[in-house]
Amino acid sequence: MVVDKYLFKYKNYNFTKGHTTAEYIDSLQTFEIRDSDIFLVTYPKSGTVWTQNIIISILEQDTGLPAYPNNFEQMPWLEYKGGNEDYSLRPSPRLLASHLTPTLMPPGLKNKRAKIIYVMRNPKDNIVSYYHFCNIFAHWETPKIGGSSWFDHIREWHTKRDQYNILFLTYEEMVLDLKAAIIKICSFLGKNLNQVVIDQIVEKTTFQNMKNDPKANYEFMPEEILKGQFLRKGKIGDWKNTFTVAQSERFDQILQERLGDMGLKFIWDTE
Ligand code: A3P
Repeated sequence: MVVDKYLFKYKNYNFTKGHTTAEYIDSLQTFEIRDSDIFLVTYPKSGTVWTQNIIISILEQDTGLPAYPNNFEQMPWLEYKGGNEDYSLRPSPRLLASHLTPTLMPPGLKNKRAKIIYVMRNPKDNIVSYYHFCNIFAHWETPKIGGSSWFDHIREWHTKRDQYNILFLTYEEMVLDLKAAIIKICSFLGKNLNQVVIDQIVEKTTFQNMKNDPKANYEFMPEEILKGQFLRKGKIGDWKNTFTVAQSERFDQILQERLGDMGLKFIWDTE
């Protein structure tokens, strides 16, 4: 079903037109998963590119990862085949990012050997970040965004977590203690890096250093697609500069209605 000039809706998900097709999304149901595959799954604007940079930096240390011109090609999006690449021809370990919900993901991931790192973020900051991103990203408009509902994404991944080999992280814990988050990721990936290397990865993936690195800041994206800086503020709680008290209360109410039954304890509740 057509949503607008930029998006098409398929299986309850808004995809960017021209970059994927319903047939390709269906083909993911038979996508062959390798034990060495590493997937990064997020709802958009939750810290994907940050975590992508961290995972690549960790893997580069000892796996002889083949070199690609940028992080986007090193860890491409599963659902958007950049340059029509056939991912089945990629050497291992394959690194793939995705914003998909579990239903749309390759069922082979349920072998529990391939790894998934899932990052989520306070939805209020997520919305603010998304709003600003839509203003600089040519394929989306603020009222009509790509992806699914944040609530559906969190609910589905959390309720199905036992079916996967998955590490849940939050954007907030990464901001509060980047080193601890990197150590957590290393341990999940079975990478035993020494302190000096871990400190180097921490340094490389701070907000400021990533912003100054054209590769990490996605400056390789053509200006007609990305009309601004990918790394914007990188803060916890920026929503407070945008939401009114009434909007925040209304959001809390919706959050309670949509996810309250799950009894999730969110890190941002301790703010
Ligand atoms: P803001 O818009 O709030 O600044 P995604 O990669 O999923 O699209 O998420 C983008 C968000 O992650 C942006 O949030 C971006 O600035 C933030 N981000 C990227 N790298 C970061 C880093 N090294 N430290 C903190 N935030 C980072």
